[in-house]
Amino acid sequence: MTTDTTAGAPTAAHTAPDIDLFAQEFAADPFPLYDQLRRSAPVHYDPATRLWLVSRDKDIRQVLLDPVTYRSDNALAPVAPLRLPALRILDRAGARTLPPALLNNSEDTHPALRGVALRLFSAQRVRAALPMIERVTHEELDLMATELEETGRHDLARGLARNVPVRVVLGLLGIPELTRADVMKVADWTDAFITLFWGRTDKERQRELAQRAADFYTWLCDLAALRDVPESSIFGALARVRMPDGSPVNQDVAVAVCSNLMVAGHVTTSQMISTAAYRALESDGQWRALGQDTGLAEGWIEEILRREPSVTAWRRVTSRATTLGGVELPEGAELLFMLTSAGSDPEVYEDPERMCPMRGAPRRHLGFGLGRHRCPGAELARAEGRVVLTAAAARFPDLRLTTPDRPPFLELVSFRAPTRVEVTRGPRTP
Ligand code: HEM
Repeated sequence: MTTDTTAGAPTAAHTAPDIDLFAQEFAADPFPLYDQLRRSAPVHYDPATRLWLVSRDKDIRQVLLDPVTYRSDNALAPVAPLRLPALRILDRAGARTLPPALLNNSEDTHPALRGVALRLFSAQRVRAALPMIERVTHEELDLMATELEETGRHDLARGLARNVPVRVVLGLLGIPELTRADVMKVADWTDAFITLFWGRTDKERQRELAQRAADFYTWLCDLAALRDVPESSIFGALARVRMPDGSPVNQDVAVAVCSNLMVAGHVTTSQMISTAAYRALESDGQWRALGQDTGLAEGWIEEILRREPSVTAWRRVTSRATTLGGVELPEGAELLFMLTSAGSDPEVYEDPERMCPMRGAPRRHLGFGLGRHRCPGAELARAEGRVVLTAAAARFPDLRLTTPDRPPFLELVSFRAPTRVEVTRGPRTP
């Protein structure tokens, strides 16, 4: 029984197995724990993180469709506490607490700010961006071809899968032209940001990550302060928005919106492509098939989003005492709803462990969330996944993993993907 006195700490009845949400063992294969939780403790208190773990599809839907009881205020708080040196660095940059923008906004300012994201990443705008996505993909494939020729290897997770999404999202946000080195710096900053806020790191590593997150924030502040931004850019769009009280969007909020979009628009899609490519390369014939059948990538991506989504879990906090899955939750209870678990819920999916690109109702999964905060970048992520997988498999049908060993997976509470997908060309070794 836990003796925790935090708001929302439970009584003995709700505590169960030992769980380490940051462990490599869990990151590499989370499915046995999800199965156990859904079966025996579907709303379960984890004393280590002080989070209530919600693992069944139906309970998660209930949470997502009730934004008044389950608020998003805690969505961007660090999961593991940050130490003083890291906090000081964030403080100095003014980046310690981001104001409510999108992901962490349960206020009445959310709809107007969300409207900007919905317009910037609408299906129509994504369709219009397809030639740009294809051009960027082919440029990155050329670089990959050179590397394969010169070194015999390429790491998809650090190369193709990482570079296309960061370039595409910067383009769609209308960020002024950057050098390649600066684009790579943005990718590095967004990676640092998620590691700091959703990982468990020691003091020294925290300090290093906080410095990169602070540099990211300072760069965004400089961008937001620029005059003459294009009307079609994120800052141009935000300048036209009015809050419910009639005031314009202030600079802190504009920076927070842009940071939400840049982080969410880069890391998630990059991770999705890494996982999708890794699973296709690992299984017999799937990679080659992706290059031959231009329709196949669509179903493959949906299955990845269901079974192994890059956003594995997200948070909410209760605004009042309530009951979920038969468990009483007090006001202030912090929840972690586990989207990967929902995608493998046998109450919803037959043979959930089977990757089946032709599955019925392929978009039913919760990989992009649901309700008030549902992902506005879903169509963009899908388009990027489709284009990159199809083009890469068509250009390099003989690509194979360099080693049969399982790569390490990200050890973060809300994100999951292989951190290395090293490939080479040539026949598979038996
Ligand atoms: C595979 C890629 C992606 C996945 C798995 C993903 C997943 C999600 C999920 C689960 C949510 C819901 C969070 C909640 O309920 O609080 C969400 C929200 C969001 N996503 Fe994505 N996302 C992806 C790509 C993108 C892209 C490409 C962008 C932007 C270009 C983006 C921007 C956002 C934003 C701004 C929100 C918050 C919306 C709001 O609070 O109203 N995402 N995403």
